[in-house]
Amino acid sequence: MKKLLLVALSLGATATATVSMAATMNTDPEQSSQQLRDYFKAKYPTINIADYKNGAYIFSADKMSQWEAAEEFPPYLDAIDAGEALYEKDKATFDKCFGSDITKVRVKFPRFNDKTNQVETLEGQINKCRTDAGLKAYKWKKGPIAQVSAYYAYNARGQKINVKINSEGAKKAFLAGQNFYVQPRGQFNLSCAKCHTYNAGRKARSNILSANLGHTTHFPVYRAKWKHLGTLEYRYTGCNKNMRAKPFKVQSTTYKNLEFFEAYMDNGLEINGPGYRE
Ligand code: HEC
Repeated sequence: MKKLLLVALSLGATATATVSMAATMNTDPEQSSQQLRDYFKAKYPTINIADYKNGAYIFSADKMSQWEAAEEFPPYLDAIDAGEALYEKDKATFDKCFGSDITKVRVKFPRFNDKTNQVETLEGQINKCRTDAGLKAYKWKKGPIAQVSAYYAYNARGQKINVKINSEGAKKAFLAGQNFYVQPRGQFNLSCAKCHTYNAGRKARSNILSANLGHTTHFPVYRAKWKHLGTLEYRYTGCNKNMRAKPFKVQSTTYKNLEFFEAYMDNGLEINGPGYRE
C-alpha cells in the first residue's frame, strides 16, 4: 500500500500531465488517434510507431532482449494447442458464427453493432456463439475463453488491426471509452492516461509503463505473474484494482467501450497475439 502511494505521488508530480491531457480528448476519433501518435513520436522520436505492439519492452534494450528470448519458446504454446482442441470440438458451431477461415476472425473484432448499439468483442462473441447454439458459455477472464481467443489471434498474426467507426453509435462508444481512459478515479485519483500515456516509458516501481498505443495487439496474454493466459478485459480489472478503484465486470458496456477505444487507437499495428508479458 505504501509503495503504491509512492508511485501515485511521483507520477502525480508530472507537471505537464494536466495540460497535455487535452490532447487525447479530441472528439474526432481519427484526430484523437493522430494526436496520440504525434505525442509519442515527439516524446520518443527513435521508436517506430509499428514497434508499439511490443509493449513496455520497447523502452529498454535489456528487457527487450530478455523478452525476445522468452518469446522463442513461449509459455503460451500449450494454450494455443488447447484452444485448437476446443475449436475442433465445436468447430461446426464456431464456423457458423465466424466463418471457416480461422485466419479471418480476430481481425473483425472489436466492432460496433448498430442494431444492438453495443460493442462486440471477440471473447463476447465466442460466448454468444456458444449460448446461441445451446452450448455452455466459457467462464470469462481465463481458461477456455482465452485459449480459443489465442487460437484465433495466433492464426491472424501479421494482419493489421482495423477497427471501424462508421456510425454515430460507434463514435459514441469510442468517446465513452476515451472518457473512461482519461478520467481520474480511485483513491489515488489516477487515470489510465496518467500512467500509460503521460508516464509511458517511465518506471513505476520495478515496472516500465507501457504506452496505451499497442495495448490490444497481443492479447490474450500469458503473464509470468499469473502463470496462465488472460484476456484484455481481465487485465483491465487488475489495473483498476491497482488504482484502488472498483473494477467493472469483464464484458460490461464500460470495458467493451474501453476496449473499442484502445483497439481503435491501435489501427494499423500488427496483430501479434497471444503474447508473453512479465
Ligand atoms: C499506477 C499506474 C497505472 C495505472 C493508473 C493504470 N495502469 Fe495499466 N499497467 C500498469 C503497469 C505497471 C502495468 C505492467 C507494465 C506494462 O505493461 O505497462 C500495466 C499494464 C497494463 C496493460 C497490459 C499491457 C501489455 O503490454 O500487455 C494494459 C492493457 C493496461 N495496463 C491497461 C490499463 C487501463 C485501461 C487503465 C485504466 C483503467 C490502467 N491500465 C491504469 C500501471 C498502471
